[in-house]
Amino acid sequence: MTMISKPIFVTGGAGFIGSNFVLEWLACGKGPVVNLDKLTYAGNLANLANIYNDSRHTFVRGDIADTKLVERLFAEHRPFAVVNFAAESHVDRSIHGPGDFIQTNIVGSFRLLEAARAYWSGLPEGERTSFRFLHVSTDEVYGSLEPGAPAFQESHRYEPNSPYSASKAAADHLVRAYYRTYGLPVLTTNCSNNYGPYQFPEKLIPLCIHNALAGKPLPVYGDGQQIRDWLYVADHCSAIRRVIEAGQPGETYNIGGYNEKTNLDVVQTVCKILDELKPVTYHSSRITPYASLITFVKDRPGHDRRYAIDARKIERELGWRPTETFETGIRKTVLWYLDNTNWVGNVTSGAYREWTAKQYGDRGV
Ligand code: NAD
Ligand code: TYD
Repeated sequence: MTMISKPIFVTGGAGFIGSNFVLEWLACGKGPVVNLDKLTYAGNLANLANIYNDSRHTFVRGDIADTKLVERLFAEHRPFAVVNFAAESHVDRSIHGPGDFIQTNIVGSFRLLEAARAYWSGLPEGERTSFRFLHVSTDEVYGSLEPGAPAFQESHRYEPNSPYSASKAAADHLVRAYYRTYGLPVLTTNCSNNYGPYQFPEKLIPLCIHNALAGKPLPVYGDGQQIRDWLYVADHCSAIRRVIEAGQPGETYNIGGYNEKTNLDVVQTVCKILDELKPVTYHSSRITPYASLITFVKDRPGHDRRYAIDARKIERELGWRPTETFETGIRKTVLWYLDNTNWVGNVTSGAYREWTAKQYGDRGV
């Protein structure tokens, strides 16, 4: 008799991290996936083109806040776990319009938790014990670190500074409450800035690659000395798989890449790799460095100065460590964007142009 393994229920699996997670989950032979995604501007079925004909993947277009739909998906597919990636994820967009962030990140997460709780309550004993609800959160809920201050541990107080991070913080609190109040076996992961294939070019690294190749300015906010702790997306996905497998219900795990860099460093590194892989030459001889496109622009309001993740808990308790350094991960990333110009071309049509005009127009680039 062949055992049919139960599916994992992924939300937001057509976005950047979610699609990487789904592709890797199937590549690792981990079992079927039910993928619920609203396909906002950030969701893109082209990210999943490689599994178009894979019968283990069921894609459903819909909203995590649609209780009836979510209840039906739980009843039909009977997943053993949920991973909630679905979110509005871009800080700058949350500054222009926080409403969608409140709706998806807070109300949507709440409705998803409610539907999961109803489903989980009705499971037979053994399945109830092994069920997991993993909520994907961010280091931004902890606020901003002073230079030299120790990296964020899981016990760091919550001090969100943007509508995005505040909405993620609210969801994290709901997730915690569902464990303490109802016993729902939840897990929360707080990770640092991700980069890698399929990231929408509104975020720093793909935006710079995209603009550089088009000969457009590379906008660096303020003095460019803000620090982020960069995590290659495949490392993030392997950490999530490990937490689903072995994480303690009710616990939170910080996931980071041990790669603190200033934004200016990041942009300059991207430029150097492009100089090497795709040099721009004028009059057939002189090479124009991409770094000449770097343009300092007006800072982001409430811009957090530094994030850094202390990922020792997940290493100590679950044996996970990132495999990529920034140097290896950024090279792979630039190569991926160079090899996938069609993907970039498709996602940067129409609405993308409206966004960049709104976001960068009044910054003078
Ligand atoms: P993304 O913006 O690329 O993708 C989000 C996906 O969610 C999209 O496919 C979108 O269509 C979908 N979605 C949005 N609203 C939805 C709704 N109401 N119902 C169903 N689907 C909906 O984001 P990402 O970068 O892949 O981030 C995934 C998760 O990881 C988010 O929760 C984010 O807060 C978190 N996170 C991201 C980073 C990062 O650097 N990208 C860092 C830390 C945490
Ligand atoms: P981003 O990729 O938007 O991620 P987050 O705000 O979640 O950290 O930005 C990363 C850093 O890069 C952040 O400090 C803001 C900065 N940044 C720029 O300097 N220029 C840009 O055009 C963008 C999009 C971001």
